[in-house]
Amino acid sequence: MSEKKGLNTLVFRRLLSHAKPYRGLFALAVFCTITLSFIGPLRPKLIGEMVDKYIVKSQDSVQLLNWTLVIIALLVIEGLLQFAGSYLSNLLAQNIIRDIRKKLVGHVLSFRMRYFDRTPIGALVTRVVSDLEAITEVFSSGLMDIVGDMISLIFVLILMFVSNWELSLMTLVPIPLLIIATRIFAKAMRKSFQLERAQVTKLNTFVQERISGMSIVQMFNREKQEYKKFEEINKGHRQAHVNAVWANSIFFPVVEMLSSLSIALLLVWGALKVEGKTSEEIRNMYGEIIAFTLWIYQLYRPIRQLADKFNVLQRGTVRAERVFEILDHQENIQNKGQIADCNFNQDIRFDHVSFAYIDDQFVLKDINLTIPAGKIVAFVGATGAGKSTIVNLLGRFYEFQEGTISIGDTSINDIELNYLRKNIAIVLQDVFLFSDTIHNNITLGDPAISREEVIQAAKEVGAHDFIEKLPGGYDYQVGERGVVLSVGQRQLLSFIRAYVYNPHILILDEATSSIDNESEELIQKATAKLTKGRTSIVIAHRLSTIQQADMIVVLERGEVMEKGTHHELLKSGGYYRKLYDMQFIEKK
Ligand SMILES: Nc1ncnc2c1ncn2[C@@H]1O[C@H](COP(=O)(O)OP(=O)(O)O)[C@@H](O)[C@H]1O
Ligand SMILES: [Mg+2]
Repeated sequence: MSEKKGLNTLVFRRLLSHAKPYRGLFALAVFCTITLSFIGPLRPKLIGEMVDKYIVKSQDSVQLLNWTLVIIALLVIEGLLQFAGSYLSNLLAQNIIRDIRKKLVGHVLSFRMRYFDRTPIGALVTRVVSDLEAITEVFSSGLMDIVGDMISLIFVLILMFVSNWELSLMTLVPIPLLIIATRIFAKAMRKSFQLERAQVTKLNTFVQERISGMSIVQMFNREKQEYKKFEEINKGHRQAHVNAVWANSIFFPVVEMLSSLSIALLLVWGALKVEGKTSEEIRNMYGEIIAFTLWIYQLYRPIRQLADKFNVLQRGTVRAERVFEILDHQENIQNKGQIADCNFNQDIRFDHVSFAYIDDQFVLKDINLTIPAGKIVAFVGATGAGKSTIVNLLGRFYEFQEGTISIGDTSINDIELNYLRKNIAIVLQDVFLFSDTIHNNITLGDPAISREEVIQAAKEVGAHDFIEKLPGGYDYQVGERGVVLSVGQRQLLSFIRAYVYNPHILILDEATSSIDNESEELIQKATAKLTKGRTSIVIAHRLSTIQQADMIVVLERGEVMEKGTHHELLKSGGYYRKLYDMQFIEKK
């Protein structure tokens, strides 16, 4: 975040525009705040007059009681307005933040994978959770309080000067000092807030990544080093917060001192005036002195809070800027395709397809391939050869730079994106399960898929037995303490996922790689069921799993080296043969 001076009004105005749908609520909250800031300063005036008229001058106990009741009534009204203002502005804030969060998450969900390759998850989480919280404060307290404080400040000053301009000037002498202190403080706070933000993001990212990668940390015995690294970040985090608190802590005693100085000046004035006056005249000053004492407090509190609230505004605006940055960031795959009734039961053709993730480091080079409709095509090749990349392109998770990929005669770029993806199911090696029921993990929340269909699919795939044995069966909450699903079981769940979606095109990307021999038979059977009658792409390390494929494609460094059936490739004695012999020897 760049050093910015003052409030970024453009961002702030944009933030305010989010209150538009809640105009009524906004107006009501402002009304409460404004009324309150008029009633507050009126009270000292009334108390002063009450003292003058009914204590000093007339000792009229009936009137005194009446006035006291009026003042109590005012206090009650103040309390009610305070409650209403606070409740309404918090309601407003929560509504606005819900809208922004909805927009933000919706927008992020549309980003193409490239964005997530380059953005740490922790940073995104910080944006969606804690940054938005700071923006809430702008509406719930910052903005209203500033409006209210400003008005009551001005009103107090007017009342003071109308009452006694000489005394007003006298008691206002320390105010320039207060303004200077406030400016210094605000600057220091701004700096430490920015530092604090950077540290919080760092901390979130670190913790999130270490927890996600816990198995790696423990497997490689990195706990000590990671802990040390964490300590560093934690220290920085602490320091940033302490700096912020330091500036804050210094400021408040300074304000207290200055307000005491004002009161002292008030007393000095009184002492000077007393000279040569009759006791009658002196008594006439009582009401004024009482009113001014109360006003001085009413004057300092808003000035002190203004700086504080301005910080809330500033902090909210700085964070809003970062949230808007994401909202303005265009990173979605162009969904210009219109076709939504394409026949997926046709050959898939790669025509001179070249692709690079980064700049011109091409990982696929001039790929020409035809995947026949309804057949199984297997891809083999070393790690990093580009097998998964082919899958990424077919699902349009990344946009390729050259060539065309078509289904029949339709380029996949012309097909509506959601429609395309609905017709392709991809099963990956790492199965991601959400903290939800088995059922919802299979349907992914699609209510159109019934329990019967899920059970039917589970039976087909051969997973029904183990699911039934879980506590709660299909309603078992994944991730709860108790049963931990094995890799094979998770894989079977992902197969059911694909099965119930009944896609035209099926892709298994090393879906069988991390499975033990026992589950392998189950998975093999499931694979046979799943691939039957659909165009299937199978990526596998174990050659035993792909011998039945209608065609095997050997990829090497992003290029097609060989293709043919298992027997053809064995006979030709190329890379596939070598790979086969290697695995064969391994098994011996
Ligand atoms: N998201 C990505 N961003 C940048 N480079 C990537 C990304 N994914 C893969 N690559 C690179 O592309 C090449 C092909 O990767 P991939 O298709 O995953 O290989 P395979 O699946 O055959 O093991 C590798 O060199 C890999 O480093
Ligand atoms: Mg891969």
